[in-house]
Amino acid sequence: MSELEVEAIDATLGAVVTGVDLAALDDATWARVESAFHDHGILVFPGQHLTTEAQGAFGRRFGSIEHLVEDAIVVPISNQRRDGSLLDEGDLRMKVMRGNEGWHTDSSYMPLAAKASMLTARVVPSTGGQTEWADMRAAYDALDAETKARISGLTAYHSLKYSQARIGDEAPRKGAYGFFDGEPPLRPLVKVHPATGRRSLFIGRHAYGIPGLEPDESAKLLDDLLTFACQPPRTYQHSWAPGDLVVWDNRCVLHRARPWDHAEARVMHHTRVAGDPATELALV
Ligand SMILES: [Fe+2]
Repeated sequence: MSELEVEAIDATLGAVVTGVDLAALDDATWARVESAFHDHGILVFPGQHLTTEAQGAFGRRFGSIEHLVEDAIVVPISNQRRDGSLLDEGDLRMKVMRGNEGWHTDSSYMPLAAKASMLTARVVPSTGGQTEWADMRAAYDALDAETKARISGLTAYHSLKYSQARIGDEAPRKGAYGFFDGEPPLRPLVKVHPATGRRSLFIGRHAYGIPGLEPDESAKLLDDLLTFACQPPRTYQHSWAPGDLVVWDNRCVLHRARPWDHAEARVMHHTRVAGDPATELALV
C-alpha cells in the first residue's frame, strides 16, 4: 500500500483519501484519518470495496454504532429487494428515500443526534443518484453579523414526521419508520463542534418551530438559512462508483441524495455513528 494521501476537494469541505486500506487500518493511520475528518468534514475513499464487517469496524473507530434496525451495523439504503426486484413508488422505504433528497443531518430528530455517517456504494444507477454535502461551518462564517446576532440563542425542534409531511408523506402510522416516536427534540441553531470548537449552522429539513417565532416566520428563517447555506463553494457532490466509501461529520455538514431513475437499482450500505451524549443530546 502506498503512502496515505489527503487531497482537499475544490470547495470549503471535503477531501479524497487514497493510499490506505480501511480494512487494515493501524492506529497511526487512523489518527491521521481522524484529523483529516475534523479538518474537512467529509472524506471520500475511492475503491475500498469493504465487507460489511470491515465497514462496521471502521464505523466503530468513530464511536458507538447507532442501530437503526435491530442490532445491524450496516443498513442497506436501496430500492432493490434481496430477490433483485425493485420497490414500488408507494413503498414506505421509497418515501423515506425521497425524503433523503432534502438537505438534512442524520438523527437530528432523535434525542441523540448522530456524530458521523458513512455510505458505501454497492450498485449504482447509470445516471443520477449522487450524494451531495454542504458545509455548515463555512455557511455560519459567511452569515452577516446581523443574522448571526438574530440566530444566536435560537433553537428549533427537529422531527421526521414534520419533514416527511412537508413532502406530502402524511402522518405515517406510529413507529412506521422504525425510529424515535416521542416528543420532538429541541436543538440550538448554532452548534459548537466538540472537537474543533468551530461554530456551524445546525439546521436542515427536520428543523421547525423555533420557539418565540410564529410558525411562518420560523419556516421562512429556516428555509432562508438553508438556501443560503447550501450554495457553492460550500457544497460537494459525489458521483458514486461501486466500492467507494464516504464518511461525513453530521455535527457540521448537511447532506442529501440526488434523484435517479427508479427503474434502475441503487444499493448503498449505510453505517451511522451515535453522537456523544455530552454534546449531541437534545436540550429537551
Ligand atoms: Fe441521511
